[in-house]
Amino acid sequence: MTNRPSILVVYGGGGTEHEVSMISARYIIDTLRKDLSMNVSEVLIDHKGVWNYKNIDGGPELPCFLKPGKLLSIQTKDGAKDIPIDLAIPCIHGPPGETGDIQSHFSMYQLPYLGATPEASIICFNKVSTKLWLNALNIPNTPFVFLDSMNEKNLQLANTFFQQIGKRPEVFVKASSQGSSVGCYPATDLVELKTALTSAFEYSPYVLVEKRLYGRELEISVFEYQGKVHTSYPGEIVCPGKFYSYDEKYSSNSTTSTAIRASNLPDTVVEEMQTLARKAFLGLKIRHLSRIDFFLTDRQEIFVNEINTFPGLTPISMFPKMMEATGITFAAFLKDTIQRSLNR
Ligand SMILES: Nc1ncnc2c1ncn2[C@@H]1O[C@H](COP(=O)(O)OP(=O)(O)O)[C@@H](O)[C@H]1O
Ligand SMILES: [Mg+2]
Repeated sequence: MTNRPSILVVYGGGGTEHEVSMISARYIIDTLRKDLSMNVSEVLIDHKGVWNYKNIDGGPELPCFLKPGKLLSIQTKDGAKDIPIDLAIPCIHGPPGETGDIQSHFSMYQLPYLGATPEASIICFNKVSTKLWLNALNIPNTPFVFLDSMNEKNLQLANTFFQQIGKRPEVFVKASSQGSSVGCYPATDLVELKTALTSAFEYSPYVLVEKRLYGRELEISVFEYQGKVHTSYPGEIVCPGKFYSYDEKYSSNSTTSTAIRASNLPDTVVEEMQTLARKAFLGLKIRHLSRIDFFLTDRQEIFVNEINTFPGLTPISMFPKMMEATGITFAAFLKDTIQRSLNR
């Protein structure tokens, strides 16, 4: 590795979390430049997939693209200028980052990158494939059925599931490949269920119907540092409405609060959650970082809800804070991951 590696940070992307990715990227870029004195090239990917190079000294954004030989080719008015890149950071929540697409692009050009491989990304981004894998790994997750299209037979499947889950059935209907609670709806009767299914299919080719759980929403940061997998203490999302919706996540009127260290958790529950988080991270072959989200029911049952392969890194995000609570700073994590990726 050169003394000052040249890092490419790409952010934005075509999903609903475009703006959130931009905020996360600021945190990564500031850490790389200010704490680690690394050279950073910034590229904003717009909603159409166009790459725009951001000049550190201001000035207009310039079109750019990756070239073989680990080069970022920037199209200036005086012709192309190629910048050598050592490692890329796909700071994108949703497509084309968490979907694995951009990691495939980096792999094709043999450019090392931070985070999960295309395969692990695509499995974890799809809520259906995540659950199929979790079942295969014997990791408890919310009871569910999934639908591949909206037709009478599938509607019947969803209705039967709904009617069998309890005396006062309630479900969550979720588009398979979305984040930020987009395409995710609670339903308390068969009419709501049908409406929710129709809406969710507008977002994704598969739709999940999950039993609604009552209890607490907890999260764990799982990351690699100095060659070992670390799991944080669980943090908690305390959402008075019990649905951590898009607005609850991002609006300034949100009534949701977070705790970096959840209170009143029995040690056995913490240990079991950390064991499951580690098992999921290793079993799904996730790399470098992830945030694994859980439900803890009122009966103390633990279920994995979902796995985020590129968790939020905004000032209100849990991932870096839970990591730092283990005693490892985000800067130390980035430095270690970058060094080990470049020394391979
Ligand atoms: N089975 C469930 N039981 C109770 N609440 C749920 C369930 N599934 C989802 N939720 C609520 O909906 C939110 C969004 O669902 P989630 O699966 O985490 O999707 P996203 O990827 O959009 O964050 C959760 O944070 C939680 O508040
Ligand atoms: Mg979630």
